[in-house]
Amino acid sequence: MALSLDKDWWRQAAIYQIYPRSFKDSNGDGIGDIKGITSQIDYLSSLSLDAVWLSPFYPSALADGGYDVDDYRDVDPKLGTLSDFDEMLAKLHEVGIRVFVDIVPNHSSNRHEWFKAAIASEPGSDARNRYIFRDGKGANGELPPSDWPSHFAPSAWSHESTQGGKHNQWYCHLFAPEQPDFNWDNPEVEADFLKTLRFWADRGVDGFRIDVAAGMKKDLSEPLRSQATYPGMNNPLTGDDVLFDRNEVHEVFKSWRKLFNEYSPPRVAVAEAYVRPERLALYSSPDELGQAFNFDMLEAYFSATDYKKVIDTSIKHSGASGSSTTWCLNNHDQMRPATKYGLLASVDRIRWKNSGGTTHPLDINGGIHAAVAGSMLIMALPGCTYIYQGEELGLHEVVGIPESEIQDPQYLRNLKADLGRDGCRVPLPWTSTGTSFGFGSGGSHLPQPKWFADYSVEIETEHDLSPLSTFRKALALRKTLQSTEEMSWHETGDDDVLHFSRPNGWHCITNFGGGFYNFGNLGEVVHSSQPLAQSGIYMAHGKMSVGGELPPATTVWIKA
Ligand code: NOJ
Ligand code: CA
Repeated sequence: MALSLDKDWWRQAAIYQIYPRSFKDSNGDGIGDIKGITSQIDYLSSLSLDAVWLSPFYPSALADGGYDVDDYRDVDPKLGTLSDFDEMLAKLHEVGIRVFVDIVPNHSSNRHEWFKAAIASEPGSDARNRYIFRDGKGANGELPPSDWPSHFAPSAWSHESTQGGKHNQWYCHLFAPEQPDFNWDNPEVEADFLKTLRFWADRGVDGFRIDVAAGMKKDLSEPLRSQATYPGMNNPLTGDDVLFDRNEVHEVFKSWRKLFNEYSPPRVAVAEAYVRPERLALYSSPDELGQAFNFDMLEAYFSATDYKKVIDTSIKHSGASGSSTTWCLNNHDQMRPATKYGLLASVDRIRWKNSGGTTHPLDINGGIHAAVAGSMLIMALPGCTYIYQGEELGLHEVVGIPESEIQDPQYLRNLKADLGRDGCRVPLPWTSTGTSFGFGSGGSHLPQPKWFADYSVEIETEHDLSPLSTFRKALALRKTLQSTEEMSWHETGDDDVLHFSRPNGWHCITNFGGGFYNFGNLGEVVHSSQPLAQSGIYMAHGKMSVGGELPPATTVWIKA
């Protein structure tokens, strides 16, 4: 299937995130790899995808699941080779699936050759100036240079002696100490990332997901400014925060856009930027990355009020840049939506996870029903839909991973306050029996729970009503039902029900409540996330209801 040259192909695409280490293992070493992805092209095709986005597969010591990159222009030998990558890319392209790779520009790993050279060099040298080194405070420089916080450690500064350095300086890392931040005021850094983008674009890569896109540029003027409040969503709207969402970063993205536009069709990019919605339009402008993740839906609970608010705000703000909106219910950093929605909204999810899932009851089926209904709703909206591997199986978060097996620095470094993100990164179950449920012929780098058997691709393929079968049908239908990027709301007379339609008579109705909703006769029912019923008794979030047509936690698609 030839890929189209339409430069807008991404605007309403379905993009599937692959976490390569946990997708499919081809050689039995317990780690998913590139050949594993190639072996599942039929599976990916069965989901009617427009593209896949691969989380980092570059050489890495995995201090942060691969977001600590040793070399941006190679494949981790544990995951394969560049020629395996080329083969995978060609085969995906043959079936009409494009490929995004993850670019991690805010920081490298401490094993990157530039960082090793920096540590081995004198203060003030060109080699050190690619990163952010400073003298410490205190009589002997024994205190960090500023109060900047890190995501994965109390301070964003580590002493260079921890990396073998001998000059009594400190280096900056907004994430783990193994992730030193680049100095983006250094033109050498900028040039090297252009080289990396070109390296992958020349190989045929279609798009880029940009990690920590609101980072990179910092206020490095002396004396270093304090960062007393945690940045991110609280940052001001002025673009002069110390560490995040600074105006200067947009100059970088403008130069990236020039490079993207040299290709046909232009390469696509999506920003991971946790910024205020008012600022997101800058990142997604056509002069810059073109698209930005809209994380508000990730934060929303399964409720009509939450969803409606997020949809209205997101569409308004994405309109400001001329981009299309992105919708996602999860990714490799978030609790699985089936679990999130299977807990009451009031539950402290981190405490629940830390307790091994014992502080509150989990409504296992109700959570899955809500998650699949939520997915069908976002798929029907104008814009791009992102699916995270395993979401199509309705997987729950894996809890109770023994401490000795935890990999996530969020837990290991961050004062062990949160067990971290491993629970959504457990290797996928492909079969109901066998070693590592068909993930590979050996083990699995994170332990898989017994219940994975029931969620395997094998079992779910056999059942028409499984999450997988529901996703397959929805994603295929979505392609035939889509048209222009408009939508209109319809009154439902029920606070728990949302109803919107798209220009070609595609109606989507979601019942978030515990009762039944009668949607009348609008046309042909083409799909629903659960069977519709004339009457029945359903449990959702512990509530019991009788009667109606659209059951609780269900989405229906109708063609008028
Ligand atoms: C965002 C990525 O999604 C996350 O997994 C990672 O830990 C941080 N950026 C740091 O790169
Ligand atoms: Ca492997």
